[in-house]
Amino acid sequence: MYIKNLRINERRLQDAMEEMAKIGATPGGGVQRLALSDEDRQARDLFVKWLREMDLEVMIDGMGNIFGKRPGRNNDLAPVMTGSHIDSQPKGGRFDGILGVVGALEALRTIHGNRIETERPIIIVDWTNEEGTRFAPPMLGSGVWTEKLEKDWVYNRADIHGKKFGEELDRIGYMGKLPVKKWPVHAYYEYHIEQGPVLEREGKVIGAPKGIVCIHWDDVYVKGTANQVGPTPMEGRNDALCASAEMILKVNELPEKMDGNMVATVGEIHNYPNSRNIIPDKAHFTVDIRSWDDELVTRAWEEVRKDFDAIAERRGCPIRIEETWKVKHTPFDEKLVKRVLETADQLGYLNRPMVSGAGHDASYISMVAPTAMIFVPSIGGRSHVEVENTRWEDCEAGANVLLHCILQSALEK
Ligand code: GLV
Ligand code: MN
Ligand code: MN
Repeated sequence: MYIKNLRINERRLQDAMEEMAKIGATPGGGVQRLALSDEDRQARDLFVKWLREMDLEVMIDGMGNIFGKRPGRNNDLAPVMTGSHIDSQPKGGRFDGILGVVGALEALRTIHGNRIETERPIIIVDWTNEEGTRFAPPMLGSGVWTEKLEKDWVYNRADIHGKKFGEELDRIGYMGKLPVKKWPVHAYYEYHIEQGPVLEREGKVIGAPKGIVCIHWDDVYVKGTANQVGPTPMEGRNDALCASAEMILKVNELPEKMDGNMVATVGEIHNYPNSRNIIPDKAHFTVDIRSWDDELVTRAWEEVRKDFDAIAERRGCPIRIEETWKVKHTPFDEKLVKRVLETADQLGYLNRPMVSGAGHDASYISMVAPTAMIFVPSIGGRSHVEVENTRWEDCEAGANVLLHCILQSALEK
């Protein structure tokens, strides 16, 4: 068969996606596969089984990143890499991350089934803990692999119940022996749902982000004074939850105040002791600020810090701030982004360049290798929710673009 006529098998892609969606399935139609949970383990086991069925060389590193390698004619050449993540948000969707893993698998199955020899090896990858919801920050697997984060620091990150990353990785049996260390990569492609409304709104099937926005994550710890709610007068209270409430609204007002293209969100809050008749003496909330403009994010954070300090002072609730994660905006490789758009054109899919407002492992990988992403539309622009959905024909289109991008890169000498 002429390579240019090659297409993925839509039925096989859908079947694999549906089989994966059973693992951690939630009553609302989504999935919950928190990083290093039993569900994450189960999904990894299935992925590894599929890799072995294709006779790929399976490698697992000390971060639990899973690699499946298909040799090329010349294995001294840097490989082409593709993949995404298996973990999900709590009550997350059936597409975020896993489409890039299963889509890559389907592309490889197509290449394999047609006995196509490539010049370069192809490696398919599942990166550990992309979501950052159980263990913050996100993208821990790719962060350590690219040597941007320290492995021992990551092992000591704890979830909300005090469980350590390293212990949980060991518990699920995915503390691999391969050293966690980047190798030269010829091209990295990550296939993902858009997670926003742009493609659907414009009737486009394929998006090629020119890069990923700058993201800042901070954790704010607010201290108050606990007391019985009845006998304690309103004056003079140090209510940690009320102080947090005021601060949270300041975060929400930031984008308008900064008059720029940015978003700011508080998504997580913990209140202690969380009893209806005790004045809260401790609260902890997260801040997430994003924009393509790095400098705007820095200025916005400085601005809201001043508001936090004023509120803390007025309410007598001191604050402690932990800078959890900061990544500047990451531009992708122009040549590969162009290739995604041109490939979509050749295959007859309407497409457009765009920006990714969501973080992806591609952000770390692009710091060490030429990188591009392929987006397909999210129905209603909804993601990180159980109703997250993408039409099967769009999933098929994205996988076809991925297939042909992989082939072009892997046939290069
Ligand atoms: C990743 O899921 C993100 O927070 O954008
Ligand atoms: Mn994702
Ligand atoms: Mn996500």
